[in-house]
Amino acid sequence: MVYPIVVYGHPVLRKVSEEIGKDYPDLDQLISDMFETMYRSEGMGLAAPQIGKSIRIFIIDATPLAEEEPELADFRQVFINARIVEKSGDVKLMSEGCLSIPNIREEVNREFRIRIQYYDRDWNYHDEIHEGYRARIIQHEYDHLDGILFTDKVSPLRKRLLKGKLNAITKGKFEASYQTILPGQKIKTA
Ligand code: CO
Repeated sequence: MVYPIVVYGHPVLRKVSEEIGKDYPDLDQLISDMFETMYRSEGMGLAAPQIGKSIRIFIIDATPLAEEEPELADFRQVFINARIVEKSGDVKLMSEGCLSIPNIREEVNREFRIRIQYYDRDWNYHDEIHEGYRARIIQHEYDHLDGILFTDKVSPLRKRLLKGKLNAITKGKFEASYQTILPGQKIKTA
């Protein structure tokens, strides 16, 4: 099934998500649904809080960008119970967007390199270094698990300028090509 996407202002986006166990009910179906939801909304990544689930899972499929960014060629992955254990390298400014914050793009600083430990869909353990664009996408999705959004990371000036637009999103004043859940709207549990 395709889930609606929770938008800015909803408290679930601000929670610190919980780790899950192998016995989490219907996990494989949930992951398939997350991919379906991400593809339907033309996103490159999706974290569980964005569909109203406060658990430590995010998915990435950046392969559609591979033509412009060859390093993304095979970058499709499920990250369960991920922990970023190191960040290093130069901090770089680059524009980002988010399905939970429709029609806003802002320049965000991120570290060039990260080391991340996680389980994949088959519960294989990974301990990996990612750099550049891959590290950026991972950091964005990972932040969702800790209740952090990319708009938190922009400069104080940009934050002031964004305030009105973010308020409009919380009130449902935005266009999106996918179904959304506004703050105050109930998340239905499948
Ligand atoms: Co996002």
